[in-house]
Amino acid sequence: MAFNNIYKGKKVLITGNTGFKGTWLSTWLHSLGADVYGYSLSIPTSPSMYEAIGLSEKIHQHYGDIRNKDEFNDYVQKVKPDFIIHLAAQALVLTSYKEPFDTITTNVIGTAAVCDAIRNIRWNCTCILITSDKAYDNVEWIWGYRETDRLGGKDIYSGSKGAAELVIKSYWYSFIKEMPNIKLGVTRAGNVIGGGDWAKDRIIVDCVKAFSKGETVEIRSPKATRPWQHVLEPLSGYLTLGQFLTEGKVDNGEAYNFGPRAEQTKTVFQLVQDLAERWGLDKDKAAELTGNSPFHEATLLKLNCDKALAYLHWHSTLHYEDCVNFIADWYRAFYVDKDKDMYQLTLDQINTYVKKAQGENLEWAK
Ligand SMILES: NC(=O)c1ccc[n+]([C@@H]2O[C@H](COP(=O)([O-])OP(=O)(O)OC[C@H]3O[C@@H](n4cnc5c(N)ncnc54)[C@H](O)[C@@H]3O)[C@@H](O)[C@H]2O)c1
Repeated sequence: MAFNNIYKGKKVLITGNTGFKGTWLSTWLHSLGADVYGYSLSIPTSPSMYEAIGLSEKIHQHYGDIRNKDEFNDYVQKVKPDFIIHLAAQALVLTSYKEPFDTITTNVIGTAAVCDAIRNIRWNCTCILITSDKAYDNVEWIWGYRETDRLGGKDIYSGSKGAAELVIKSYWYSFIKEMPNIKLGVTRAGNVIGGGDWAKDRIIVDCVKAFSKGETVEIRSPKATRPWQHVLEPLSGYLTLGQFLTEGKVDNGEAYNFGPRAEQTKTVFQLVQDLAERWGLDKDKAAELTGNSPFHEATLLKLNCDKALAYLHWHSTLHYEDCVNFIADWYRAFYVDKDKDMYQLTLDQINTYVKKAQGENLEWAK
């Protein structure tokens, strides 16, 4: 009975539900007994986790553009959700260099459309708005960023996420703060990994595609380190924040970081080798190093998650090895054991994750 059963029988509207995080989140909420309503532009990749697990049969799906304020507002007024979780975005850094204007309209105007629709809600509703760790102004220092640190990045994607934060802040102070029926929280998490992601230019996707064809994977930045975090980690944070806001256990209108354990920081090369080994391949033959990275990508951005620990009693659950195993098992089942029930496998991983969180005595998992 995770999250004090608060989502059972409730209507949860998720924007961007056909994407990577959205599909995992929809599946988890559906398994918790929520009535899930999705609002997305399209299914962003092929293959996609959304299709692999047959999610459209389990939820209510609407295809629409988040930038269309009236269409989104009408949908909210029709569904009357108890919760809104806003994930819809142009979420890829490299795409933001190719499509800067589209990235800004989707991430900034899209967020404004969500805030505007929230302004028109007359029933009780808890809203969780997702931006990114990239919303912080990355000054490339060694310390983790705190929720009070300066926002606004130098590249288009980071700038769009910083701008989305400003939009939320101004809607909050101008309108939403005075609405007794609305609870609102903002969340910032970093790069996530997990089974079911087929977005372009993501190393895991390149790996599993290569492994499934018996090819070696090309690595651009083998020495780059990332604080690898499984997708279920921030999702448990979002759902805990939704629970605590609804129960009045935390202040309204605040932002929270959800980041991984410090030990999760490994090089790209190490991750590729570990995935290959779990897949059953010779890890020394898994990768070919090409070493040319086309754009400036900030190398160091750590989140300080003390606030989530203090107020939500949340910390990340999985160890690096658990992440590697979850990911390799998910994709291997998809590519190799072709008749595997991917919905059931996804649910099994969610249940394993909840059990591990119970083992860590995390309040949300009790
Ligand atoms: N995946 C990560 O590593 C990561 C890291 C930090 C923050 N985030 C943030 O989390 C959120 C979800 O990320 P993801 O990885 O699941 O992204 P994704 O690219 O897999 O999915 C994006 C979703 O947004 C929808 N979408 C895009 N443009 C839209 C539009 N104009 N109107 C309506 N829907 C639209 C897509 O249809 C899809 O459902 C995003 O806000 C992203 O910036 C992701």
